[in-house]
Amino acid sequence: MTTRNTNIAVAATIIVAIGVGVYFLNNKAHIHANTRPAAKIAAHHWIVPDTGELTNIDNAKLIKYGRSLIVNTSYYLGPKGVLSIKSNGLNCQNCHLDAGTKLFGNNFSTVATGYPRFKERSGAVETIVKKVEDCFERSLNGKQIDSTGREMKAFIAYLKWVGKNVKKGSKPEGSGIEELPFLSRAADTVKGRVVYISKCKSCHGKHGEGLLNAAGRAYTYPPLWGDHSYNIGASIYRLSKFAGYVKNNMPFGTDYRNIKLTNEEAWDVAAFVNSQYHPFKNTSADWPNLVTKPYDQPYGPYAERLFTSAQHKYGPYAPIKKYYAALPKKRSN
Ligand code: HEC
Ligand code: HEC
Repeated sequence: MTTRNTNIAVAATIIVAIGVGVYFLNNKAHIHANTRPAAKIAAHHWIVPDTGELTNIDNAKLIKYGRSLIVNTSYYLGPKGVLSIKSNGLNCQNCHLDAGTKLFGNNFSTVATGYPRFKERSGAVETIVKKVEDCFERSLNGKQIDSTGREMKAFIAYLKWVGKNVKKGSKPEGSGIEELPFLSRAADTVKGRVVYISKCKSCHGKHGEGLLNAAGRAYTYPPLWGDHSYNIGASIYRLSKFAGYVKNNMPFGTDYRNIKLTNEEAWDVAAFVNSQYHPFKNTSADWPNLVTKPYDQPYGPYAERLFTSAQHKYGPYAPIKKYYAALPKKRSN
């Protein structure tokens, strides 16, 4: 190499090195800004039982079958289900990530200890069986499965086993779905469309239709709207649940330690996706005590006429939450 070429090579190396350094620093700062202190999580987080122990305990077969039903729901019970046709092609795991064990991934940590309990949505004491049926009827836009059959027994056995290390009444850090801080404005479907196109469309499709696997029995990328998606009675149809779920888990492969969306992006993409068509579900019997209805419940009736249903759906939520917090919670029925 001539001296001149060597000089150019050295200069180029220095420029690249500076570039990489700057990128790295920026990126580090960015990640830092969006990441929870790891120590806090480590101290309180949930110890998920090890599937390795499943060979030694009673019930092992049933628990494993339950796990398999959570992971491969559609294979067993979807539109081409090998057992029967009960649901829309989604798997429970699509929304309860890693078979319901992922921190901030809508996990099942407090299911075993949290039921039976009174729930405002139905106005009744609910069992785990009822919760599973609910997800079939709403999130999987399908039908109930036999509440005394082997499949239901397997779901329950798995849910009880996976939550067995959680103390009754405690809520481990990272359980369920994170509640994000509110925006001071309404969530914006136009901005959300831009987020969708740049960060979601590559997997979930131009029309939110997802992508079926080669065998056509389940989705490689699940649909986000349209006939095969969750219905309007599903919890994820509420913007707070959708935004909290995607913030910590999407684009797929990310987790709470490596967040790819800002809070604004999470709320706006939630608004865009949930402004698209979802199948109808009659929800008129939900929340019989209207003053307990969540601030972001997208459909009425409501306990007041102060806020439009558009504001209930998209926000701004702070005034609604404040108003409801001040109402007496006396049961109306
Ligand atoms: C489209 C997304 C989606 C799918 C698919 C789905 N769920 Fe859910 N599920 C949710 C959301 C959202 C919640 C409410 C979480 C919350 O309120 O924080 C929930 C709640 C639950 C709960 C109660 C959790 C708790 O801590 O109280 C159980 C149990 C449950 N689902 C089981 C299932 C089962 C079993 C399936 C499959 C048959 C399933 N879910 C499929 C989104 C989904
Ligand atoms: C790299 C591919 C990929 C990208 C990009 C991606 N997702 Fe997903 N998404 C998935 C997969 C795969 C699942 C199912 C996860 C599982 O079953 O373990 C999923 C599940 C979901 C679910 C729950 C299931 C359902 O269909 O309702 C929602 C909601 C969701 N993604 C929203 C988003 C949003 C919003 C974005 C953009 C910010 C996004 N995803 C980007 C692959 C992706």
